[in-house]
Amino acid sequence: MEKRPLLLLGPLMPYLTEELEKRYAVEKLYEEKDALGFLQQNADRFRAAVTSTFTGLKADMIDLLPALEIVSSFGVGTDSLDIAYAATKGIKIANTPDVLNEDTANMAITLLLAATRDIVANDRFVREGRWARGETPPLALGIEGKKIGLVGLGRIGSVIAKKLTAFGCEVVYHTRNKKRDVSYEHFDNLVEMARRCSGLIAILPGGDATKGVISREVLQALGPEGTFINVARGTVVDETALVELLQSGELGRAGLDVFVDEPNVPEALFALNNVVLQPHMGSATVETRKAMADRVVSNLDNYFSTK
Ligand code: NAP
Ligand code: 8YV
Repeated sequence: MEKRPLLLLGPLMPYLTEELEKRYAVEKLYEEKDALGFLQQNADRFRAAVTSTFTGLKADMIDLLPALEIVSSFGVGTDSLDIAYAATKGIKIANTPDVLNEDTANMAITLLLAATRDIVANDRFVREGRWARGETPPLALGIEGKKIGLVGLGRIGSVIAKKLTAFGCEVVYHTRNKKRDVSYEHFDNLVEMARRCSGLIAILPGGDATKGVISREVLQALGPEGTFINVARGTVVDETALVELLQSGELGRAGLDVFVDEPNVPEALFALNNVVLQPHMGSATVETRKAMADRVVSNLDNYFSTK
């Protein structure tokens, strides 16, 4: 049987590209010198496309693909995908939820421990020979018995909550809707929750609806003894305020996996010992990325086999 045409909107991990090539007649838009010209000639052939949270799917791309029915995206976040516009055209969007819960939650816990225990600063302390010279680093902070507030308690947030419980933390959370099936305390008011917490972990979706939800006021309420962890999206926090408050010490510590303008990170953070930085690695393990890739493939296969 002839392979179905499939358009890749952006580069993917080699394993995923290979798996797609086994099943589909793959064409790579990002390798076309004249992408617009290519689409003008060929767009009618593509009922399906693959993208990622990094590449996204904008309305103008949807307009250029009149035969499109299904877009399978690598990643769970949908903030870079114009889902509302796709829906007006009857286009289905598939993403990769659940398979990345454990590793993204592990990144949140890792950042919390790394930030509170000054892991990166103390690593530097050893390498710079300061320990050998007889210096003593300041005492770090513990997390056992501390109240940690989750901003978002969905698929990933719920896993973070379970893991925090194993560390002896008290979990509380802020979402728009109180959950019936959990016993953690729910806060309608995020500033109030931050005031009561030693740590705050952002794990809610990005996009316009959540822009700056973690405001300067929230970070100030968390305060000089508080730790802010972001494994959600850079846009959910007021990044300017975050940098200023970490610089002034009005916010104690942070662990950040995500930023407003990735891969650009505010340079002011590079000089700070009270922040741990990661290049958006939440789901980036061999095991999880393979599982995400397999989900991208099965989402497409299921669509075409009418599942
Ligand atoms: P999910 O299952 O949809 O859960 C989202 C949670 O956020 C829900 O509890 C939701 O509750 C809450 N929420 C939504 N809007 C909110 C608001 N305005 N204020 C407070 N809470 C709000 O999503 P998920 O699978 O856990 O993923 C969450 C996000 O993590 C993704 O969208 C993605 O951006 C990010 N992520 C990052 C990485 C990484 O590599 N760092 C990896 C995977 C995912 P209510 O609806 O009741 O408010
Ligand atoms: C990945 C993510 O970095 O799934 C998400 O929303 O942010 C991460 O898992 C991303 O999906 C890779 O494209």
